[in-house]
Amino acid sequence: RRRLTHLDLGRMRAEGRKIAMLTCYEASLAGVCDAADVDALLIGDSLGMVVQGHDSTLPVTVADIAYHVGAVVRGSRRPLVLADLPFASFQESPQQAFRNAATLMVAGAQMVKIEGGVDMAETTRFLCARGIPVCAHVGLTPQSVHQFGGYRIQGRDEDGAARVLADAQAQEDAGASLIVLEAIPAALATLITQRLTIPTIGIGASVECSGQVLVLHDALDISPGRKARFVRNFMAGQSSIAAGIAAYVNAVRDGSFPAPEHCY
Ligand code: KIV
Ligand code: NA
Repeated sequence: RRRLTHLDLGRMRAEGRKIAMLTCYEASLAGVCDAADVDALLIGDSLGMVVQGHDSTLPVTVADIAYHVGAVVRGSRRPLVLADLPFASFQESPQQAFRNAATLMVAGAQMVKIEGGVDMAETTRFLCARGIPVCAHVGLTPQSVHQFGGYRIQGRDEDGAARVLADAQAQEDAGASLIVLEAIPAALATLITQRLTIPTIGIGASVECSGQVLVLHDALDISPGRKARFVRNFMAGQSSIAAGIAAYVNAVRDGSFPAPEHCY
């Protein structure tokens, strides 16, 4: 069982097989996710909220992410492992992004994720040209929470939708091999999925995306605070974490998650 690569995810999209992604931050749960056949594990900066107890992702550092990448890589064998470049680790310049992405790759990540579209396309191009696969993240990008004035759905009106579409297209054109679409109208996520050739991974997006992602703690119903509309408790009716995670993978694969009530 070799580890999946971005080429495998591209093949899954081409063959119409859904990609099941979860966040993960540590070795034991990485092993459970691997056994449940999760395709990709994201060391997300959401760890700032669900592991560290902050109320945003902004305080997370590259060293924090790198520490958790090591644990997830050691605890799993098959899933693609990708890691977030946290706030203030890549926005300054492509050079800064490369330096910090390299730290995550050395820690064992196979791909880095950056929040941003048109404005970060040059950075994506710079990383891809230097051997670092990139996952883009557009729509509701939580590192911009203060610019947005809260965690609010993006791309609602015509101008907003055009902006998110342009962001996604710019990232694909710059070489991104994967893209996360967060908290945008389902119709827009479906349109973006049709327009792009790379796999799209939805969270509060559309069942038509090539795959889905959730914060693991949300899927297991152990996150503190108010739940977003797109979250479903996969522990409902299950008697073990392994069964809950398997239920998530099955629901993504058979297209029963997300249901309309999880979308905008
Ligand atoms: O940090 C994170 O968990 C994420 C996913 C929700 C996409 O970026
Ligand atoms: Na993130």
